Amino acid sequence: MIIVGAGGHALEVLNELKLGNQAVSAFYVEINVYVNELFGIPVLHKRDSLPMEPFILGVGKPQLRRRLFEQLIGKLPVASVISTTAQVSDFGVQLGEGLNLMHHVYIGPNVVLGKGTLVNAKSSIHHDSSIGSFCEICIGVSIAGRCTIGNEVFIGMGALILPGVTIGDKAIVGAGAVVTKDVPAGVTVKGVPAK
Ligand SMILES: CC(C)(COP(=O)(O)OP(=O)(O)OC[C@H]1O[C@@H](n2cnc3c(N)ncnc32)[C@H](O)[C@@H]1OP(=O)(O)O)[C@@H](O)C(=O)NCCC(=O)NCCS
Repeated sequence: MIIVGAGGHALEVLNELKLGNQAVSAFYVEINVYVNELFGIPVLHKRDSLPMEPFILGVGKPQLRRRLFEQLIGKLPVASVISTTAQVSDFGVQLGEGLNLMHHVYIGPNVVLGKGTLVNAKSSIHHDSSIGSFCEICIGVSIAGRCTIGNEVFIGMGALILPGVTIGDKAIVGAGAVVTKDVPAGVTVKGVPAK
């Protein structure tokens, strides 16, 4: 496996892969960060020097996840990391490619996750909700049933999304927000209730 990124989230992904007994042969960064290795694993910055192995996104920001995915897809196989502690329902779940489902994530029945999305530790996404592509769902977020989240949405730590809420593409939800109403595309909301 190649982890794309070499920052904090990349190390969290490394941790999950290690726990799942999956070998990592390199980190990939777009520019030369003058760090040659991390925990004995080489950090490579030239695309043509990458081994022909699956890549896993190891960055957080939605736009960066999309850009790096588009840069590598078709050149290398893509893989997901699904923590050994994640609980994914057996009933009607549809998972896109290139996901990060981190530790103690819960994915309920009939949930759809678009490609390249990150669901960070201890977040839960409940029945009949749909999450778009390249979203970043931060640590400890709760998304109730029947929610619709667009593409490249950022949801900050500990936010609560109440049942049936729709959040448009590229919207931003602040940490700790309680989202009671729909959020239009591209809008930032924060607070309790979120405004
Ligand atoms: C909502 C958020 C995106 C706003 O960012 P921003 O527009 O740059 O906001 P600023 O830092 O300029 O703060 C503007 C005001 O909003 C307040 N504010 C910032 N974040 C807030 C939040 N989550 N909830 C309530 N108020 C918040 C600030 O205190 C400030 O208030 P003031 O004008 O009275 O001083 C950001 O603060 C946030 O919550 N990010 C999520 C971080 C996170 O969860 N990271 C997890 C990584 S895994």
